[in-house]
Amino acid sequence: MDSDRLEQTLVLIKPDALKNSVTGFILSQLSEFHTGSRFAAAKIVNVNRLLAEEHYAEHRGKAFYEALLDYIMGKVHYPQDRWKRRVIAIVYLGPDVLKTVRTMAGPTNPHKAREERPGCIRALGTVVPILDAQGKHIDDRMDNLVHASANHEDAEREIKLWFIPHDIPPLMRAYPTETCDTHYYYKQGRLYETYEPSSVFLLGPGDVVWKSDLDILRSYRSDNPAPSGLNKVVAKYLINRFPED
Ligand code: CDP
Ligand code: MG
Repeated sequence: MDSDRLEQTLVLIKPDALKNSVTGFILSQLSEFHTGSRFAAAKIVNVNRLLAEEHYAEHRGKAFYEALLDYIMGKVHYPQDRWKRRVIAIVYLGPDVLKTVRTMAGPTNPHKAREERPGCIRALGTVVPILDAQGKHIDDRMDNLVHASANHEDAEREIKLWFIPHDIPPLMRAYPTETCDTHYYYKQGRLYETYEPSSVFLLGPGDVVWKSDLDILRSYRSDNPAPSGLNKVVAKYLINRFPED
């Protein structure tokens, strides 16, 4: 498969889209008929904190960061019904798909989207003021219904963050994989190669893994139990394993 046909993007249908029942509208906008592109993978995800933090790592420390994490974890739109907190994560594939989907989504700010690009998906979104403890307006939370990767580099990082190779049909995978030859377990920020009581099993021999993930796991040494980048590997293996608080 040539690299143009393999261009991929991560699309997230965010909790506000699910709550407002515009899922069908968004999916139909993404159809092959409208975009010339194809679905390569999809799943319903109860977003864990680690995944939210890794996905929005570039925004850490900004005034809207905590509100953004609550939003993507579904806490804003489903404060009581924890079981409804979810996003639909999609790998979408086709020529020029990154640009096509960003254009279809529209500007980040829904007010701007309505003014500048009526008809785009984010024109249906909402802007909510964020106040500090004294009630002063410090930023805005932008509930804008969809996420779409900004460029190739982000797409690769994000697709590997949300999906394991087995979620994607082999001929639609764009990134190198490798077969794991070791057992890996995780517990409270630490990695183990043998079972530790209350640890979570991540991977075992024979599992097909993103090569870049395996490189991180292989840098594990028992005297330095948390290889750097561990969270971005672990986050996806924790998807839908435990209910999030
Ligand atoms: O999603 P996009 O790449 O267009 O925008 P971003 O600047 O990377 O921000 C990521 C997400 O953070 C946005 O889609 C908004 O949902 C949210 N955001 C926010 O809530 N308040 C802001 N002032 C900026 C962004
Ligand atoms: Mg962005």
